[in-house]
Amino acid sequence: VESLKPLPVPVEEEVEVDPEKTKITVFFGTQTGTAEGFAKALAEEIKARYDKTVVKVVDLDDYAADDDQYEEKLKKETLAFFMVATYGDGEPTDNAVRFYKWFTEGNERGAWLQQLTYGVFGLGNRQYEHFNKIGNVLDEQLSEQGAKRLIPAGLGDDDQSIEDDFAAWRELLWPELDHLLRDEGDANTISTPYTAAIPEYRVVIHDATVTIRDDKYINMANGNACFDIHHPCRATVAVQRELHKSDSDRSCIHLEFDISGTGLTYETGDHVGVYAVNCDETVEEAGKLLGQPLDLLFSVHTDKEDGTPRGSSLPPPFPGPCTLRTALAHYADLLNPPRKAALIALAAHAFEPGEAERLKFLASSEGKDEYSQWVVGSQRSLLEVMAEFPSAKPPLGVFFAAVAPHLQPRYYSISSSPRFAPSRIHVTCALVYGPTPTGRIHRGVCSTWMKRAVPLEKSHDCSWAPIFVRPSNFKLPANPSIPVVMVGPGTGLAPFRGFLQERLALKEDGAQLGPALFFFGCRNRRMDFIYEDELNYFVEQGVLSELITGFSREGPKKEYVQHKMMDKAAYIWSLLSQDGYLYVCGDAKGMARDVHRTLHIIENTDSSKAEAIVKKLQMDGRYLRDVW
Ligand code: 2AM
Repeated sequence: VESLKPLPVPVEEEVEVDPEKTKITVFFGTQTGTAEGFAKALAEEIKARYDKTVVKVVDLDDYAADDDQYEEKLKKETLAFFMVATYGDGEPTDNAVRFYKWFTEGNERGAWLQQLTYGVFGLGNRQYEHFNKIGNVLDEQLSEQGAKRLIPAGLGDDDQSIEDDFAAWRELLWPELDHLLRDEGDANTISTPYTAAIPEYRVVIHDATVTIRDDKYINMANGNACFDIHHPCRATVAVQRELHKSDSDRSCIHLEFDISGTGLTYETGDHVGVYAVNCDETVEEAGKLLGQPLDLLFSVHTDKEDGTPRGSSLPPPFPGPCTLRTALAHYADLLNPPRKAALIALAAHAFEPGEAERLKFLASSEGKDEYSQWVVGSQRSLLEVMAEFPSAKPPLGVFFAAVAPHLQPRYYSISSSPRFAPSRIHVTCALVYGPTPTGRIHRGVCSTWMKRAVPLEKSHDCSWAPIFVRPSNFKLPANPSIPVVMVGPGTGLAPFRGFLQERLALKEDGAQLGPALFFFGCRNRRMDFIYEDELNYFVEQGVLSELITGFSREGPKKEYVQHKMMDKAAYIWSLLSQDGYLYVCGDAKGMARDVHRTLHIIENTDSSKAEAIVKKLQMDGRYLRDVW
């Protein structure tokens, strides 16, 4: 069966390790690929520095089939590194969930990991409340469970330059590893800076007689489906409409994917992952910058002609043969600022020496400030950077392996309930659109796709996408008579629309519903009060006890959801005291953080007590957040 996304790398056979060599495992917990990239880079560098090592890069999910196996295998590790990202509301990445849960719940195991020496590098963002929580917890727990910490945990901050943080952590690591591993015969000395080989796919150019894999996506509609990030389901667009009024200067799209007959299922509160494509303008520009025709037919391979691998740091290939147009549209992230490794790869293929030098400088430690200002701070996209260095025309094998990262799926909180819409997945998506510091108009890849999406009956273009469902724990209480308080301004409304649909269905089935409050906020009642009629209908039906709104740009003073919560403090508190649930959805950095603070004031008690009460709510699973 063919898959849209890179085929999962086959599980490696256990090979006998040469007893002379030290076995090292580099684990990664990744959501968007950065931690995985770091893990591979670390592994390559260790191999290059220390001859007598065997280094393996391991996806935490693939490491073990079940928890017993985790234990058995970890006991055999002697030197390991963990590159782990913190995601969402201080959560592990999807591929680390199972391991993290098992490992952190293992206090009773005692000091069972004494044979292990380890290092942790966390990937996070300081703008978020739980900065690098997963890296920190893992680091502490490894130590508590007996393992020896080789160096302090690195705390990468994606708000600044996470690559510099990673480089700084590695600089601390080498002297420690030298102690452990350095052999007289090792060629590299500490003072020689290591330069990684630039990864490159083998490219095969095909002629027109080849069967194209442009439009073949798996769809296991046999009732036996198991869709996931690697095996998305082809879903057609059934409905697309604008939710803002015509005089709004912004846009928010309501989109419905038709999942009937696909075997794909979901629950209220889950997320949908959507693989969108770059729009034509972006693809055409990329084709020009690469100096290649868009109808070129090619395929990429991770092995050499003789079948031997080309290096472990290569990302899994995408399916081919396909046209360059398809590859650029589906698989290349062209609009994010390039990573330093991409600049190095571009430099290697810039035939103007001045351009090559400047690219190398931007990627060097001396060019650190310039990189963070000129690239990251100005939000220069990869294409914008390439346009500044016209002589840098990397071959396709280098471009797709080292310059343009794979385009990642985008996640949305599903805004429907399967009890109401069993054959549809609804999405509520704000259009990401606006000028960057360089004057470029940035268009979010997936929201732009949704803005342009058309129901299948109207057009075959832009009328379907590969999607999959990611389960969440953002769920209504099992007992519908328990009170719920929901806070969701803007598109934070999405999962609550699903909740309310579910409550309506429950009510129609005769369930007794407990009270439900919903705090909604937007700029202006007339322009961006999305789903207003539906919300009023839920109130009329008694599914929503009270709809409380705050409009931030109507009067002289901003009215936010948390201000409205203060007005209702006593009532909220009484509901939560009756075993009620509190749900917050939306922007993590501003809104959710401020709502969290407000919650402490609402309790009307001294601050240490308030903190304990909020903690308890969280521990009981009665304060749930779906934030981004
Ligand atoms: P603003 O854009 O006028 O500041 C949905 O995005 C709504 O959330 C908007 O009305 C927006 O107001 C508001 N908002 C912005 N920052 C917020 C914060 N820190 N807390 C609560 N609401 C916020």
